[in-house]
Order: sequence, then structure tokens, then C-alpha cells
Amino acid sequence: MRTLIHEWKSSGQTVGFVPTMGNLHEGHLKLVEEANKRSDRVVVSIFVNPMQFGENEDFDNYPRTQEQDIEKLKGLSTDAVFIPSADDIYPEQIDRSSFVEVPELSTILCGASRPGHFRGVTTVVNKLFNIVQPDCAVFGLKDYQQFIIIKKMVDDLKMPVQMIGVETVRESDGLAKSSRNGYLNQQQRQQAATIYEILRSIKTEIQQGRKDYLALEKEGLGQLEKVGFKPDYVAIRCAESLQVPAAETRTLAILVAAWLGNTRLIDNIRL
Ligand code: PAJ
Repeated sequence: MRTLIHEWKSSGQTVGFVPTMGNLHEGHLKLVEEANKRSDRVVVSIFVNPMQFGENEDFDNYPRTQEQDIEKLKGLSTDAVFIPSADDIYPEQIDRSSFVEVPELSTILCGASRPGHFRGVTTVVNKLFNIVQPDCAVFGLKDYQQFIIIKKMVDDLKMPVQMIGVETVRESDGLAKSSRNGYLNQQQRQQAATIYEILRSIKTEIQQGRKDYLALEKEGLGQLEKVGFKPDYVAIRCAESLQVPAAETRTLAILVAAWLGNTRLIDNIRL
């Protein structure tokens, strides 16, 4: 990987990078298209990162569809697909290896119910950045907290990588595309679209002047429960800091995480 990158860079070409865990869908492919627009060469990584999965999470069951993924990327003029092994990335036991962690932001929202998750994400993205040495890296805003956390890591640690965020790609009923949608049965799949409906209705209420965010969050939780979700959170936050909005907050993010059976879904919109 380093040899290839060196060749490209020494002839003045720029490198765009899209890190993924594979099982590629249109959301991922939109990131690749964006990387293509912004750089001469595009690298996509596929690595189901063990460090970001909790003990009782879906690491073993996470869909692995390498051949189909590579076919999809061929159709998009990707220059290289980087598929490291777990040993390449973690030659030592994970809990004996160095890590990168963004404090505070990593322990709220999804971080509260998935301890260690964001440490796993920032550590692997750091390693991948060091291997690929991209000029820009493209991430989806569907994982909004992840995007904000990685952006902070890049800023804090002065990494020479431009961070690009791409808007969420959705199914026709509004459900955000996700590899985990494949876990849903038919009935759950229909219920799942409620998340986006609730996000949009909260957005409308705020645009119409409501400022009682706690009450709005509570109403959202109630609506999710009514259609069979076990909500983790509905949160209205400052879109930049992910903290509770202050008087001077200009951009808001409305974020949801909720369980449908054994599947945890997340989504968000901003205004
Ligand atoms: P993964 O879930 O495979 O997602 C890879 C990238 O695709 C992320 O930037 C994610 O935000 C983006 N993405 C997923 N669904 C999307 C959608 N519907 N619309 C737009 N973008 C979407 O996120 C990860 O992998 C990992 O945590 C990773 C960053 C690769 C580190 O292991």
C-alpha cells in the first residue's frame, strides 16, 4: 500500500480515501464518487474492525461480502481496495496495543451505550490514515457522531487530512441505508422507517418555533416505543459540539438510536 501511495504522490497525484467495513451499499458508493471528484486516486478499505465491537455485539455476524464489494468498486473506477487482515492491523492483542481516543465526545450518545466503541473507531482510522496517507477522507453523515469525533481527532492531532462529510443515502421510505438493515425481518423493515419520520417531524416543530427540546425528545421516545422500538436516545444537540444546545447555538443535530428486536439502528438530521 505504501509503495503504491508513494508512486502516486511522487508524480503529484492526490489520494482520496474511503474507509469501510464492507457489505457495500449505495451509501458507501456515494462516498467513493465524492472521493473520485476530489482526488486523482481513490483508495477504499474494507476491514471489519474488531476493536470497535463490544463483547456482545455483532462482530461475528457482521455481513462479509468481499467479492460483491470488489465488483461494485470496479464499476466506480476505484484505484485500490485495501483489505488488511486483523493481524496486519492488530499484530498484538488489542488491549496491549496503543490507542487513540477523543475524550468526552466518545462517552456520550452512542458512546454511552457502546463503551470503547469510538476508541476502536478512532484507533483504526488513525492506523488506516497512517497507511494510506490520504489528502482527503470521505465519511457519511449518517454516522454523525463518528464524523464529529474523527474530525476532532484530525484537528487535535494536526493530521494533514481534509475531512469530507457526505449526506445520508436513504431507501425510498426514508430509512437510512445500512448494512444492519439486512438483519430486519419484513415487519421490522416497515417499522424502521418511523425513525426518519420522527426526525423530520421534530425538525418541523423546531422550525415552527418550538424550543422545549426536552419535551420534543420525550415525545420522540414515546412515538418510537409506540411502534415497537426500544429507543436508546432521541437527542437534540448542537451540531458542532454535540452538547446540549446553548442560546448561541446555530446549527442543531437531531439524533436517534433505537433497537428493533436485536438490531440497533441510528439516524440523524441537522437544521
Ligand atoms: P461502515 O459502517 O462500513 O461505513 C463506512 C462509511 O460509510 C462511513 O463513513 C459511514 O458513515 C458511511 N455510510 C454508511 N451508511 C451510509 C448512508 N446510508 N449514507 C451515506 N454514508 C453512509 O463507519 C464505519 O464503517 C466504520 O466505523 C469505519 C469508519 C470504517 C471504521 O472502522
